[in-house]
Formats: sequence, structure tokens, C-alpha cells
Amino acid sequence: MRHAMSIEPTPTSIHRDAGQAVTRPSPYLEISDLWKSYGDFVALHDISLSIAKGEFVCFLGPSGCGKTTLLRAIAGLDLQSQGTILQDGRNISTLPASKRDYGIVFQSYALFPNLTIEQNIAFGLENTGRSKAEIAARVAELLETVGLSAQGKKYPAQLSGGQQQRIALARAIAISPGLLLLDEPLSALDAKVRVHLRHEIKALQRKLGVTTIMVTHDQEEALAMADRIVVMNHGVIEQVGSPTQIYRHPETLFVADFIGETNQFPAKVMSQGQVEIVHSAFSCSTQDFAAGDPATAVVRPVDIIPHGAGAHAVNSVDRPVTPQNLIDAEVQEMEFLGMFWRTRLTAPRLGDRTLIADFSVNAVRRLNIETGGVIQVEIPKERLLLFPRGA
Ligand SMILES: Nc1ncnc2c1ncn2[C@@H]1O[C@H](COP(=O)(O)OP(=O)(O)OP(=O)(O)O)[C@@H](O)[C@H]1O
Ligand SMILES: [Mg+2]
Repeated sequence: MRHAMSIEPTPTSIHRDAGQAVTRPSPYLEISDLWKSYGDFVALHDISLSIAKGEFVCFLGPSGCGKTTLLRAIAGLDLQSQGTILQDGRNISTLPASKRDYGIVFQSYALFPNLTIEQNIAFGLENTGRSKAEIAARVAELLETVGLSAQGKKYPAQLSGGQQQRIALARAIAISPGLLLLDEPLSALDAKVRVHLRHEIKALQRKLGVTTIMVTHDQEEALAMADRIVVMNHGVIEQVGSPTQIYRHPETLFVADFIGETNQFPAKVMSQGQVEIVHSAFSCSTQDFAAGDPATAVVRPVDIIPHGAGAHAVNSVDRPVTPQNLIDAEVQEMEFLGMFWRTRLTAPRLGDRTLIADFSVNAVRRLNIETGGVIQVEIPKERLLLFPRGA
């Protein structure tokens, strides 16, 4: 099958770095010093961001953080108060929406209810100088691309939510736009359809090679789909990085907490590599901290390693254990969540605070972990994260 869009080679520029040639894709979309205010309220605060050609980027953040505002500025639907946007080298900052090169899909499918599916997809193709036959061929091709060839004569109300969103996607890519903008395209769908469509959108994006920005407040969706995630909070960018960077190396407590789950404890840096959590010393990386600094210590439930009961820790993984980070804990509660067990632990070393730990079904069986039992768990020093307190 012919691709709906031609895939152009990514332009590259050569940077000389310490004598070594490094190739980096040149940015396709470049946002610089962008601000947006509504009266006194600042919705976007000095946003700068570069997106490479063909990248799939997610804007992720809680409700009201400015995701849609940023997307609408890129689309020209709501002009920014200040700042510039370049697309493919062209300054589009003040261009009206109709003069920009993008396709967009909204949360609500926004199909025309009185037009058939074919007519909905053809809508953007009319007035582009194409003949009727060319439009019909393109519509058929797009219907095939989204796997709905048999549905062309129906009306939107006769399709399921997931199908309607596929049609909205077909309509958005009909004119082979340079940029695909998706504002929470999956959030109105039920969980199963959502996960399925996630894969379809990702596969389609790869096939077309179209630079894509998707807004979502679903962290799992962003982790699963994005090449890079832009985490936003209160109109500012908190961090930009690949899903693994964002998850493994969150730069702020907000990012750590928003992406994935956390246990948080008040802590104080004691010396290089040593931190006091509650009243007891643990080993961890204390880079960027000085002795005496107050901090918040974070560990993810999934990173806590169970070692079973007794002093002779069973360690099935071939990695060094830091004895200082082993703690005795009592299992207060266990909840079976299908893929794993979520446990609530208490430990004398953590005072009266609860430690949430997720253990695999296998580990629970192997180590005979049960409610009321005492086990030894390890907080791996490389998974213990520190953030400045009160920052
Ligand atoms: N037209 C407007 N007038 C005044 N304030 C606005 C307007 N549009 C958005 N805002 C405010 O700007 C902030 C950012 O809104 P935005 O719609 O970008 O959030 P969002 O991150 O997309 O949230 P959600 O996940 O709920 O869609 C919010 O506090 C919102 O109330
Ligand atoms: Mg929004």
C-alpha cells in the first residue's frame, strides 16, 4: 500500500563536540520564550521547546497546567501574548490558523453529524484543487489506513466512539499535514478501546513519519506513546525527556510524584552518600546536596526489593546489596492488583510511617509473604531519590 505521506529524510546538522562529529536532527518546530496571559492570569510562563521532525511528543500535566493553551498557540487558534514559533524554518507566530500546516484531533470527535464518514474525511480536501475522483481515491485510502473501509456511507452517530476517533484522525491527516496535533484524543473512550487505539495511533504516526504532539493528563499513555514527554505544571515546563528519563530520573518532586507512584519521607543529608530518613541513616546519592540540607526522600513502591524473612536475606538478583538499606518490616495489608501485590508495610526504622511496596506475584509466593508477617526489604540506594525540601 502506498504511504499516505511521503517520508522525507530527516535533515541533520553536524555539531563538532570535543573533536567528535555528532549528528542531531534540526528542529522542525521551535518554540521560544512563549507567554500567554488571560488578564492577570499567566497561563504559559516563558515556554521554550524544540521538536525534531518525525518526533512524537506528549504534553503531560494536571488539569489546568496549560497543555491545551500551548497546543492552541501552536495551531494559531489562540495567539500567544509573547514569543515566537517556527515551523520548518518558517515564522508562524502570528499566522492565522488557516495558513498553518497541521491537522488536529480533539477529545470530542467533532465530526459533522449531518455528513457521512466519507464526506467528513473529504471536507478538508475540497477547495484544494483536487478533482472529485482524486478526492474519492484519497478518502478510500484514508479509510483503509484507519481500518474502516466498510463504514464510509454511514453517519457518525452510527459508529462507536473509537471508530469516530479513527475517522477524526483520518480527517486530520487527509491533507498530509506537516504537524499532527492531538488534544486528549483518547480520554473519552473506555479503557480497552483507549489502549487499543494507543497502539494504532502510534503505528500510524511511525508509518507516516509525521511530527506529532499529543496532549494528555494520563501518565501511562504518555509513557507508552511518546518519544519525548514534556511535563508541565502551572504554565511552566518542569522537565523534558524520554519516558525512561522522566520516570527514572525525575528532576523535581512534582515530576517524580506525577509520573508513577512514590513513597515520600522527610529526610536530612548527613554527609556524602548518607541521608537520615526519619531517624535512621540510609545510603544514597547526595549529589547537589550539602550536609545538613533538608530533603524529601522518594522511593517508588515498585523499586522496593523483598528479601524474605530472617536475617539471611535471599537475594535472587546478581547485584550488591547495601546492608544499611535493608529494613525489617511488618506486612500490615496486602491488596491483589492482578499483575502484582500492593503491600503496606511498617518498619521501626521508618517510625510510624507506612511504606507502600509492590511485589510480584512470584516473589510473594516464593518468599511466602503474608499479612502480619515480618520480612526484610531493601530500599536500593540507586533508587532512593532526594529532592530539596520546601523548594
Ligand atoms: N479563555 C480563557 N480565559 C481565561 N482563562 C483561561 C482561558 N483558557 C484557559 N484558561 C486558563 O488557563 C489555564 C490553562 O488552561 P488549559 O486549558 O491550557 O489547561 P489544560 O492543561 O489543557 O487542562 P485540562 O487537562 O483540564 O484540559 C487554566 O487555569 C484555565 O482556567
Ligand atoms: Mg486541555
